[in-house]
Order: sequence, then structure tokens, then C-alpha cells
Amino acid sequence: MKLSVQLAPKNKRGLILSNPVIAASGTFGYGTEYEHPFDIQSLGAIVCKGTTLEPRDGNPQPRIAETSNGVLNSIGLQNIGVRSLIREKAPIWSKWKVPVIVNIAGSSDEEYVQIARELDGVTGISGIELNISCPNVKAGGMEFGADPISAGRITSAVRRVSSLPLWVKLTPNTGDIVSIAHSVSESGADALVLTNTLKAMAIDIKTRRPLLGNVTGGLSGPALKPVSLRMVYEVAGEIQDVPIIGVGGIMTAEDALEFIMAGASAVQVGTANLINPGAPIEVIQGIRDYLQKEKIDDIKDLVGIARR
Ligand SMILES: Cc1cc2nc3c(=O)[nH]c(=O)nc-3n(C[C@H](O)[C@H](O)[C@H](O)COP(=O)(O)O)c2cc1C
Repeated sequence: MKLSVQLAPKNKRGLILSNPVIAASGTFGYGTEYEHPFDIQSLGAIVCKGTTLEPRDGNPQPRIAETSNGVLNSIGLQNIGVRSLIREKAPIWSKWKVPVIVNIAGSSDEEYVQIARELDGVTGISGIELNISCPNVKAGGMEFGADPISAGRITSAVRRVSSLPLWVKLTPNTGDIVSIAHSVSESGADALVLTNTLKAMAIDIKTRRPLLGNVTGGLSGPALKPVSLRMVYEVAGEIQDVPIIGVGGIMTAEDALEFIMAGASAVQVGTANLINPGAPIEVIQGIRDYLQKEKIDDIKDLVGIARR
């Protein structure tokens, strides 16, 4: 049975994953936190926490709230900064079998470019995931990713300074995901990641105040799934030469298979990790079981099958 997938087919280096299940940014730390309780080397890849040029403390507490069928978060990119990541984390990753992708975020084009420059050529880093879709920061983030022109501009600027496989993570907070996906693909993205969280909020009726310290946050988990799935389906209908990575509310192998049938070559598991960090490994096993039961030899045969 063949589970491996190529997630940067146009890139000289390429990026082959042993299977299509990836731990999503912000929900799996730097991977190091889960190294011992779980067999993380059997994952397709790990995307680390969103990384900025300088370390960030993130947003005021509370930063996480539960809603029906989903989670709201407004972490605000708390992270150790790219230089500490290169010094402390990359040497550990360089000894791993599982590829680690660094999710990067910035407040300006220059900041994205500078981070990408610093990461280029560092052993232990297999690719960049360009986060132009964070709903929880004042400057940058989602603003860049919700407009096809700025999304394309940042993608090409990073493309110019980095030879690493480049995934671009898009926001669902837009009425026209297809135009954004086109612009980013034409600007040199090696894969499209669909999607980040939906901007949302909740109010505590006892205190009569918003539940999150930052007022709004990003909605993830099962409530997000039908939205992300629809976006994967729409983009897959328009763009065939750049692989799509589906993310949003994947809790089980069945959820992952829906994304693959909609047109995703691979999937990311996020919120499920907050409940059970073994979830992505269970998703891989569930996909394997499904292929075996259905007598399908290659996962590729399922990609986009719901469209045909
Ligand atoms: C607590 C938390 C932190 C997150 N941090 C990041 C981040 O730093 N960068 C990023 O691109 N996405 C971040 N995300 C978004 C996830 O990677 C994922 O795109 C989103 O949660 C949808 O998938 P899910 O429903 O499986 O969680 C975060 C999500 C959560 C719940």
C-alpha cells in the first residue's frame, strides 16, 4: 500500500512525506514536547508553532475558550523567535526522520523575508509554511492573506530569498478563496494549506464581557470542518498543479478521508491534538485500514475522487 505524497512537486528539492498526515501549527509545539509519549517519527510531517523574527509574548489571557463543536483561540503568536528556534530546535530536528516545517509570521513583507533568509540552509528544517492567515495579531497575519494582491506579493518575496519548499497557509475569512489561491500559486507556492481558523468570539453572560482577553479569536475544530472542506473542494476544481493540504476540524480518519476525496493530497490535524496528541497517529492508522478494506493500493487514487 502506498501512502507517500510529494508536497512540493515543482521545487528542485521536493518534499516527500511517508504518509499524508501532518501535525498542524500551534497545536503540537516544536514536536519535542511529544517525542516520548508518542511515535512522532511515524507522522508525515510536523509544522511547528508560528515563528516571528523576535520572540513574542502573545495576547492577554484568557486565550482559549470552548464553544459548541469548536475551540476559540487568541494565542497571538507567542513564540521563541527565529534565532532561538535555529539554535535550540533545529539541531534536534536534524536527527529526526519526520520532516519539520517552520510556520512563519510577520507584521511586514520585510519581516517575512528576513525570517525566510535566516531559515534558508539550516539543517533540520524541511520547509516553510507561510502564515498569512493568523486572525489574532494586530498587524499583518490575516490582513495579508485576505487580499489576492498582498498574498501574492509576500509569497513571491519569500520565494525569491528561499529555496526551501514553501507552503502557503490561507485564511477562510474571505469571500473569494479561489482568487487568493490562484495568486499565491502563481507567485511560487509549492503547496496550499487550506485553512487557518475563522475569526469568531464568545461572551460570558455572567461577567457580560467577551470570553477572550483579545475579544476575538480563531474558531477551530469540528465547527470549522465543513467550511474548510468546501474551500478545498472549490480550490481543487481550479488548481491542479499545486498540491492542497486540507486542515480544519479533522478529528478522525473519516474526516481526513473527506478532505482527500475533496482534493487534498495531505491533511493537518490541529485541535484534535489538544484533546489527544496521539490523534494524528490514529488518523494514519484509520486511513491505512480504509485503504486495505476498500482494496486501494495508492492514496493518490482517492485524491479529488468526489469531484470526478
Ligand atoms: C491553540 C492554537 C494555536 C494555533 N497556532 C497557529 C499558529 O501559530 N500558526 C498557524 O498558522 N496556525 C495556528 N493555528 C491554526 C491551526 O494550525 C489550524 O489551521 C486550525 O486550528 C484549523 O485546524 P483544526 O480545526 O484541526 O484545529 C492554531 C490553532 C490553535 C487551536
